[in-house]
Amino acid sequence: MGKTRAAITGVQGWVPEDRLTNFDLEKMVDTNDEWITSRTGIKERRILRTPGWATSDMCAEAVKGLLEKTGTKPGEIDLIIVATVTADMIFPDTANTVCDKVGAKNAFGFDVNAACSGFLFALTTGAQFIQNETYKKVIVVGADMMSSIIDYTDRNTCVIFGDGAGAVLLEARKDGTGIQDFVLRGDGTGRHVLHMKAGGSLHPATAETVANREHYAYQDGKRVFMHAVRGMVSTVEEVIRRNKMTAEDVDWLVPHQANMRIITSVAEHLHFPLEKVMLNIEKYGNTTAGTLPLCLWEYENKLKKGDNVVLTAFGGGFTWGSLYLKWAY
Ligand code: UT7
Repeated sequence: MGKTRAAITGVQGWVPEDRLTNFDLEKMVDTNDEWITSRTGIKERRILRTPGWATSDMCAEAVKGLLEKTGTKPGEIDLIIVATVTADMIFPDTANTVCDKVGAKNAFGFDVNAACSGFLFALTTGAQFIQNETYKKVIVVGADMMSSIIDYTDRNTCVIFGDGAGAVLLEARKDGTGIQDFVLRGDGTGRHVLHMKAGGSLHPATAETVANREHYAYQDGKRVFMHAVRGMVSTVEEVIRRNKMTAEDVDWLVPHQANMRIITSVAEHLHFPLEKVMLNIEKYGNTTAGTLPLCLWEYENKLKKGDNVVLTAFGGGFTWGSLYLKWAY
């Protein structure tokens, strides 16, 4: 018997029906389809408009689909981790709400807040419980309802972000498949470049913070862009090198979907042809913690057992990293 590894044994995504196209945005801010397409690669994003629904509902839809497709009963789930920056409420955590909504009565849950790297951080956290054989079934969700924190009068941010959720089931495998290695990094000096200023303990909500529009996502796009390319390239290189591989040995690169120009630049630096790069930015935009599992969900049919897959992300914090896994099914 080989070493116990945490493997993704199922993946499911969920995105809202409503589309916000570049042409819709042309009517809302001073922008145009040509600029958005050429500068970001995005054509449309999904927006959650169901009354009373929030991030936990998107998570619950993805998890219910995942349970059904993997033949898993809700009571079998030990743990649900939700990566998000758009929790339903500051507290309690969204994951507990998700456990309730999917009927996971024997599970506990907690949230991970690492912005666009959230899914990677949550996946590696969940994997520890499987690898050390504490639990048998862990679900990791990456989900964000970015429309709840986007200023639709700010063209610097409103053209980029969208809503969506993706969930994976983690189980033990001893056949060599599963998570092989990861590199996670952080640099808190980047917190001023990409953040939501108010609403936390530093700047609690006041009439003034609302009037100053401080409850929306802010980013210095150019600086984030530069760090994102560097961070993803360096950690992919590290994880590939220390597993004695080259780019040729990697079947799929799964990059965070923030900007098509960032993805192209990362792929070029790493010598990955775009055919080996998972992409869905054109139709979903940047769903923050949702991008990586949504990519896996959409490319699931193309993945084969044993494929070498490298996930990479960069986001607010700054946080970034890369993870290498062998696809398990
Ligand atoms: O998910 C992780 C976090 N986020 C990211 O990784 C995002 C990283 N950054 C980016 O994707 C890009 O920096 C943006 C898409 C946000 C912006 O693209 P850019 O090529 O860096 O544009 P810029 O901010 O340098 O702006 C260039 C020009 C400016 O006009 P001037 O000053 O040259 O006259 C902007 O005002 O484009 C203008 N501009 C726009 N024009 C039309 C900025 N946003 C828009 C817009 N439509 N939506």
